[in-house]
Amino acid sequence: MSKAEGDVKKRIEKLREQINYHNYRYYILDDPEISDAEYDRLFDELIELEKKYPQFLIPDSPSQRVGAPPLTEFKTVPHSVPMLSLNKALTQDEFLDFHRRVKELSGAEVGEIKYTTELKFDGLAVELVYRDGKLVQGSTRGDGFVGEDITLNLKTIKTIPLKLLKRKLKVPPLLEVRGEVIIFKSEFEKLNQKREKKGEPLFANPRNAAAGSVRQLDSRITASRPLYMYAYGIGRVEGVNLTYHWESVQYLKELGLNVNPHLKLCENTSEIFEFYQNILEKRDRLDYEIDGIVVKVNDFKLQEKVGELSRSPRWAVAWKFPAQQKTTTIEDIKVNVGRTGAVTPVAILRPVKVGGVTINRATLHNEDEMRKKDVRIGDTVLVQRAGDVIPEVVKVIVTKRTGKEKTYQMPERCPVCGSKVERPQGEAVHRCTGIACPAQIKENMYHFVSKPAMNVDGLGFKLLEQMLDKGLIKDLADLYFLKKEDIMKMERMGDRLAENILKAIEKSKNPDLPHLIYALGIRNVGEHLANVLAKEFNSVDNIKNQTKEKLTAVHEIGPIVAECIYNFFHEEKNLKVLDKLKKGGVKFPEMKVKKKKTPLSGKTFVLTGVLETLNRDEAKKIIQNLGGRVVVVGEDPGSKLDKAKRLGIKTIDEKEFKRLIGK
Ligand code: IVH
Repeated sequence: MSKAEGDVKKRIEKLREQINYHNYRYYILDDPEISDAEYDRLFDELIELEKKYPQFLIPDSPSQRVGAPPLTEFKTVPHSVPMLSLNKALTQDEFLDFHRRVKELSGAEVGEIKYTTELKFDGLAVELVYRDGKLVQGSTRGDGFVGEDITLNLKTIKTIPLKLLKRKLKVPPLLEVRGEVIIFKSEFEKLNQKREKKGEPLFANPRNAAAGSVRQLDSRITASRPLYMYAYGIGRVEGVNLTYHWESVQYLKELGLNVNPHLKLCENTSEIFEFYQNILEKRDRLDYEIDGIVVKVNDFKLQEKVGELSRSPRWAVAWKFPAQQKTTTIEDIKVNVGRTGAVTPVAILRPVKVGGVTINRATLHNEDEMRKKDVRIGDTVLVQRAGDVIPEVVKVIVTKRTGKEKTYQMPERCPVCGSKVERPQGEAVHRCTGIACPAQIKENMYHFVSKPAMNVDGLGFKLLEQMLDKGLIKDLADLYFLKKEDIMKMERMGDRLAENILKAIEKSKNPDLPHLIYALGIRNVGEHLANVLAKEFNSVDNIKNQTKEKLTAVHEIGPIVAECIYNFFHEEKNLKVLDKLKKGGVKFPEMKVKKKKTPLSGKTFVLTGVLETLNRDEAKKIIQNLGGRVVVVGEDPGSKLDKAKRLGIKTIDEKEFKRLIGK
């Protein structure tokens, strides 16, 4: 390296250090030392130098918060210490139950148990991994054991340090930080206003906006969203001994992480009550959503004594706030057609702020609920929102009635596609019967191309969404008429990718019968019933020609499912799609089955936990091929295993399973 180059490198490093420091002052301490203009000058100089000398560009440069080219999927990452969830207390009594249990299990004297109290943020839990002070990985909580790798996205969030501060401390060789990514209420409203102007779908609440922003394959989109993170705990840490939760949170603060100021070390329960009350009163004035407080045993040794259940610790509790309620009037009632075709009545409200977020619609759930509460257009009603639940109408204020209120009738035809709306026997929901309904089509499409269905590799939700939005496909069958030039119209599409997608579509034209039946997305027909139907009727055409009675006669098919199957094949629009699929080249196979006794016939399996040499889909296929049934497949070995043992059901491990199937 020449002297001149060495100087440039030094200058770049200096700039990065300065920018990181000023970021910290600005975003975390909320106490900037320099003006925005001065900051911009430093930043611009860094960008300029990195552009001119790309050999000095590093991934943790503060210039890299702008996002990177999109990924095709998220990798998964295991959490070395599981990210547990919290048990809830809804009342003071329930909180005291928690405290009593802690006393019993810890064996400690009352005075010895201290708790920290903090806010329960309503956002998305994440984990950040720092090695030697550098942010090397960021992930979602996922199911607590395995999350998704969202490093690129998290790097765009200004309150997440790319490098830990090491002013007073040595940085630890390894630190796993846990916290919550949120979006401010005020920013959420602005974001939704922008989306409304652009005709984009609105986010239901700040939590969804934060979660949706963080789980973008294109981190440049994440970078454009006003996200924020609060750190509230540590997973693994090396090189430092921490004894108390309080201490570990202070430690995080000193390393430059963003810790919320509403944090208290409480000596007794009355201090906890006071904290709860105080935050409850402040709640509406906070610019972020919280749904309660979290109370944690402060001493790690006591935490250990109190212990953990499989999914949640017994040393912490989320003491929830009551749902927030307001009154307003119902200006209209409409129906919303969900992605599964559910036609739900929705009250259009005079906009009202509930807990700092404006709401203008509330769900009425279904016809029966609407009748039970006797909700009418023009009524004054009490509405509430709780956490991430959709706002709902709690009750009508009957005394406010003027006599001009009107009842609402559920529509006979879908307002989106015009197909018949039906209320299947025994169900509370109304459903649109049209397979070509645009409101349903996204979800149907996604189901159609998924692995256990037509298995079109590489066609993810985002791409499908784009194709639908651009009008390239309108129904399932259109997929088989796509040309390369159509696919090339997608954002950031390349030649290779387009060709691969076409190849995958081509490959999917030869499904076996159960996969094809499952792919059609007939209500209540999952993988298992698709198999049953295939074996019983041997072709799609044959299923189509059955009466409801004949369908019901099949073992495992009851009247509700029979009705769904029958209706599906009697909706004109669906028949057209089936025809079009054939014209598009999809083979509708016939299946010849010999009904012979197979080694696992008559046996039912629940698959759970991690398998070592097989994956669950493989295990499932083997079982089904050998005539067995698979009813539940789940991640959580703990609860299901316990239950099976309690019920005296035989459990076998992978080795024994292999023996059973003759491997
Ligand atoms: S501690 C065992 N602290 O709540 C400790 N969690 O139900 C579990 N959450 O997924 C996490 N604010 O997303 C903790 N101050 C806080 C929290 C918090 C919000 C969320 C977190 C987690 C869920 C647990």
